[in-house]
Amino acid sequence: MNNQPVVHKFQQTTVSDKAYQAIREFIYKEAGINLGDSKQQLVSSRLTKRLKNNNLTSFDDYADLIQDSRNSQEQQMAIDLLTTNETYFFREAAHFDSLKTNVLQQHPKERLFRVWSAASSSGEEAYSIAMVLDDYFGNRVKWEIFGSDISSRIIKKASSGLYQAHRIDAIPKPFLKRYCRKGKGQYEGFLLVNNSLRDRTKFSEINLTRPLPEIGLFDVIFLRNVLIYFDNPTKEKIIQSLESKLRPGGILYIGHSESLKGMDIALSLIAPTTYQKK
Ligand SMILES: C[S@@+](CC[C@H](N)C(=O)[O-])C[C@H]1O[C@@H](n2cnc3c(N)ncnc32)[C@H](O)[C@@H]1O
Repeated sequence: MNNQPVVHKFQQTTVSDKAYQAIREFIYKEAGINLGDSKQQLVSSRLTKRLKNNNLTSFDDYADLIQDSRNSQEQQMAIDLLTTNETYFFREAAHFDSLKTNVLQQHPKERLFRVWSAASSSGEEAYSIAMVLDDYFGNRVKWEIFGSDISSRIIKKASSGLYQAHRIDAIPKPFLKRYCRKGKGQYEGFLLVNNSLRDRTKFSEINLTRPLPEIGLFDVIFLRNVLIYFDNPTKEKIIQSLESKLRPGGILYIGHSESLKGMDIALSLIAPTTYQKK
């Protein structure tokens, strides 16, 4: 590597090589996220405001700050800002069709049906699943959804069930009518997911690279568009830990650009990006 610091300008704030390496190690250690060699620009654009907030003038000082475990609040803030939370309702729609036609149909009506949206981001995935379950099961089967993410900020947003109206394009019209309310007054331009779905959809902060808490077993786990941020050993560890939370015969959906090829896991590929626990 070149000895000169790679310096990127963003609103007069630069990220030296040394600071970048330290921040890169921090986010890998805390979240398993592999930033790669050249995301200085991303680090600068996302964290510059934290420098100002902490009255610091350099990323070297900020790196020192977040490496100290006594600054856990700032550590969480940095994790929140360095994660990518891009998501939308009914993203990768084929999984919702597969859920309906292959999974819900076979579920015995006496048993509670449980789904986990792991790495849920702001909740659009979890509420999309909720709409499909409510529509299919009606009052015949009890169901619940658990959503989790490493980012505390995004989990708060998910729990609120409140979204900007322009973000809801992919929700099928009949679902929009049945499961969402348009905001009025100060909530003009927003849309609220109905209580009937929010009551059955709970969110909690979970870091998938750490031992998982007691959350019970699930019929289906959605783990989509998060594996891309991890290296292979981290991916394998996460999948092994998630498969212990699947019922026998349970289903795992991963994102369309992700793969579990070559991993030592107890899951069989039954359709593209769809795995079943043996
Ligand atoms: C791109 S979003 C995907 C959201 C949704 N699953 C989807 O497909 O639209 C990735 C999410 O993974 C979360 N994430 C990243 N690292 C994580 C970790 N170690 N544990 C739990 N969540 C993590 C991020 O905070 C982010 O909200």
